[in-house]
Amino acid sequence: MQTITLHQQILEYLETQKEKYLNELFELLRFPSISADSQYKDKVIQTAEWLKNHAIELGFDNVQLLPTGGFPVLFGEKIVNPNFPTVIVYGHYDVQPADPLELWESPPFEPTIKEGKIYARGATDDKGQFFMHFKAFELLQNTTGLPCNVKLMIEGEEEVGSPNLGPFLKQYKELFQGDLILVSDTSLIANDIPSITTGLRGLIYLEVEVTGPNRDLHSGTYGGAVYNPINALCQMISQLKNQDGVIQIPHFYDDVIVYSEEERALLAQQPFDLETYKKSLEIDEVFGENGYTTIERTSIRPSLDVNGIWGGYTGEGSKTVLPSKAFAKISMRLVPNQDPDKITHLFTDYFLSIAPKGVKVKVKPHHGGKPVLIPLDSNAYKAASKAMEISFGKTPIPTKGGGSIPIVALFNEILNIPTVLMGFGLDTDALHSPNEHYGIFNFFKGIETIALFHHELKNIHG
Ligand code: BES
Ligand code: MN
Ligand code: MN
Repeated sequence: MQTITLHQQILEYLETQKEKYLNELFELLRFPSISADSQYKDKVIQTAEWLKNHAIELGFDNVQLLPTGGFPVLFGEKIVNPNFPTVIVYGHYDVQPADPLELWESPPFEPTIKEGKIYARGATDDKGQFFMHFKAFELLQNTTGLPCNVKLMIEGEEEVGSPNLGPFLKQYKELFQGDLILVSDTSLIANDIPSITTGLRGLIYLEVEVTGPNRDLHSGTYGGAVYNPINALCQMISQLKNQDGVIQIPHFYDDVIVYSEEERALLAQQPFDLETYKKSLEIDEVFGENGYTTIERTSIRPSLDVNGIWGGYTGEGSKTVLPSKAFAKISMRLVPNQDPDKITHLFTDYFLSIAPKGVKVKVKPHHGGKPVLIPLDSNAYKAASKAMEISFGKTPIPTKGGGSIPIVALFNEILNIPTVLMGFGLDTDALHSPNEHYGIFNFFKGIETIALFHHELKNIHG
């Protein structure tokens, strides 16, 4: 009975605040906080400052922008009672670059509502999602009171691999003591099929450089007699996977957890329609490791992809040139228990070993992160599951996300605190793509669910 009144109270108050909450989110979305592009450095800092002021207005104490080796982390806290559980909210205020700009139907940093969705870079990843926690905090303070202590950890470098957050966590270990880290930066299966992410893939991102002759050559006078580095690179890339989608790096699969038939049967129960999937991507056929379903290929199996490739002449018209250099950016998604450092070595050894004579090869690692597996038997997971059950009217399904949030593994390792990945986006929100969007339904459902989460956690905790 009590929960119903509480839920009702939350919903009624939320109804009166919707316009205000949306307007505030729009203000946040107008900042082009692109962490990857140094031209936007000032904008990223301004975003952090806007958030700092907003956190102060909401009544967080001890609000600060804590310095890191890169962009600052927003900290703030509200300790209502030291005996209450403490929720640490993690999110990221940086966004991916918006290009290609010409494919956006409305400007990426001018949020626009269309068919019930907010279109803007960062709408779902992750501004629209972490901001729900700010608003749930505000809502709780103005209705039931805060049933838990809250701390903020909102960073500005997730989209570039959180390179400074590991050392930061070590430095501020004492400050970030709490019962759990709550993250909304993942997807639901669908708006009527709630889910909680219980695994994320790890990541390795590398750049390779292949050098042939010491300068660009005339492709007539030298062509046919010198190894073209672009051809060499393509041949090498073609040896990374076979026709069955199996990665060819020796020992690559050695540490991959093999799932039992029971666990695979559970994954297969997830609603998924291959025809809709293919149609939405306008492809005739999916491709991946033989013997695995599309869900498995994007959750419990590792993958390898070329993210970009360049070299030689790509300008207007033609230029007959045999280039000196060729480059590619290559990423691998890892699953438990693959280790990023070990796989980086295996890749490098193999890649150098398949280089033909006549070219030189360099492999430069960019960033990486470990895969994570989240147990379902924690209080944190139970509270999230209960909160979603109340707000969606259905028990959420545990899923595994194909993407990566590199810092999550370190929450466990450095802070020794469990994480809950209670995200409200959809995989079809075009995150990292043109026309990124976030459903207004998802934004408000998230605020409602997060408010309920705090109460459920307090109930379980006692
Ligand atoms: N929020 C995403 C990760 C994500 C998206 C997880 C959807 C599950 C479902 C995050 O911001 C992201 O994009 N991570 C990057 C890694 C980073 C090192 C650039 C990724 O997964 O590519
Ligand atoms: Mn994200
Ligand atoms: Mn992202």
